[in-house]
Amino acid sequence: MDKFVIRGGTPLLGTVRISGAKNAALPCMAAALLTDDTVVLENIPQVRDIETTRRLLSAMGAEVELGYGRAHHRTTIQAGKLSTPEASYELVKTMRASTLVLGPLVARCGRARVSLPGGCAIGARPIDLHIKGLERLGAKITQDHGYVEASAKRLRGAEIVFDKITVTGTEDLLMAATLAEGDTVMQNCAREPEVADLADLLNKMGAKIEGAGTSTIRIRGVSKLRGARHRIIPDRIEAGTFITAAALTGGDVKITGCDPSHLDAVLQKLHEAGVKTTHSQDSIRVMGDKPLRAADMNTEEYPGFPTDMQAQYMVVATQAEGTSIITENIFENRFMHALELVRMGAHIKMEGRRAIVRGRTPLGAAAVLASDLRASASLVLAALVADGETIIDRVYHIDRGYEHIEEKLKSVGAEIRRIGEMFPKKAAAPAKA
Ligand code: EPZ
Repeated sequence: MDKFVIRGGTPLLGTVRISGAKNAALPCMAAALLTDDTVVLENIPQVRDIETTRRLLSAMGAEVELGYGRAHHRTTIQAGKLSTPEASYELVKTMRASTLVLGPLVARCGRARVSLPGGCAIGARPIDLHIKGLERLGAKITQDHGYVEASAKRLRGAEIVFDKITVTGTEDLLMAATLAEGDTVMQNCAREPEVADLADLLNKMGAKIEGAGTSTIRIRGVSKLRGARHRIIPDRIEAGTFITAAALTGGDVKITGCDPSHLDAVLQKLHEAGVKTTHSQDSIRVMGDKPLRAADMNTEEYPGFPTDMQAQYMVVATQAEGTSIITENIFENRFMHALELVRMGAHIKMEGRRAIVRGRTPLGAAAVLASDLRASASLVLAALVADGETIIDRVYHIDRGYEHIEEKLKSVGAEIRRIGEMFPKKAAAPAKA
């Protein structure tokens, strides 16, 4: 399994370009299932979850082409014939976002069989709100042998009020409602920029959606959707991760190809902690030359501080003067990284959903283990400031959501190398007998 070896202590200097948002690309790829025309998506990040989604859609019968380099991170999806509207356990267990195909398949094919995702390192993460919403749209749902089976001759528009704000739940039902008969009004929706980006694509495909990005979304169902071309928004979490890296290492880094307006809560909190930034329409410059100071933080749904930046912020708190209280309000088990940071010398006490971080504590290099995508990002950040050479194991987690992170870090001066291969070369084909 791949590992990263990182020698800490180098201030990062230079420019980093941000890739497209994984959490916008995944629902947009699922949306291509809603039409038999071709959908072209640009600014697709080269991360493992995209490859998993390609396999997921191909297994249903869709033609999916992923192009990189000169093909500008473009993917072309043609879901003309969907022979098997199914998402197998094999794929869903590697990426729970696979459940995003449930709504589009029922809406387009009248039936779907999708494996239940099961538990996850950061929490139980059930999909009961997806199922409840589909039932309100008239789908018949059964659960059997670990799979959800959904069917409907044609979905019907309905009023849906989410018991809890859910990002992929909002996206899944938004896609389903586009082909339903009549109007749907969804309330208490997620307001994440990724939801608005999906709605932008769907409207280009001929859907009639209003209010995406707010907590009330209205959809007038149509009988058919067409193909479209769409550019995915930048990844605000990748941008937030590099902003934190620059601040922690006392560097001076320009982060380009991002959308600062998607990072208000993150920037506000980092300013509170003493980080200096300036920004233009699509770039942020970070000057980490000031000492960091403690600031409490609570994760919230958008536009609050994102839970996907909590682990990275915890590293800032370990290097800040004073005590910071971090409260994780979205997921019940998202402090796995804290124990690894303690192994590097941090002072962190966990009390349920609160972590009390006492800083400033110098970090020492150690062998550490990544447990999930954002936890692994926080270990990379800690290693960049630690004294000595840190070895991070199981970095396959980070490949799921960060495009060539070690190349990007190296390009601004980090001492980082990967041991092992990101995409193990296919075993050579056995010599023909
Ligand atoms: C999305 O996950 C993101 N994933 C997550 O990013 C992100 O952490 C999360 O939103 C919150 O911002 C993608 O977009 C692919 P939720 P999602 O449904 O949609 C509970 C990353 O690092 N809930 O908004 O699965 C749930 O358990 C990933 O890129 C139910 O109870 O999250 C959680 O406590 C990790 N029933 C809360 O709601 C449901 O049916 C919010 O979860 C659905 C959710």
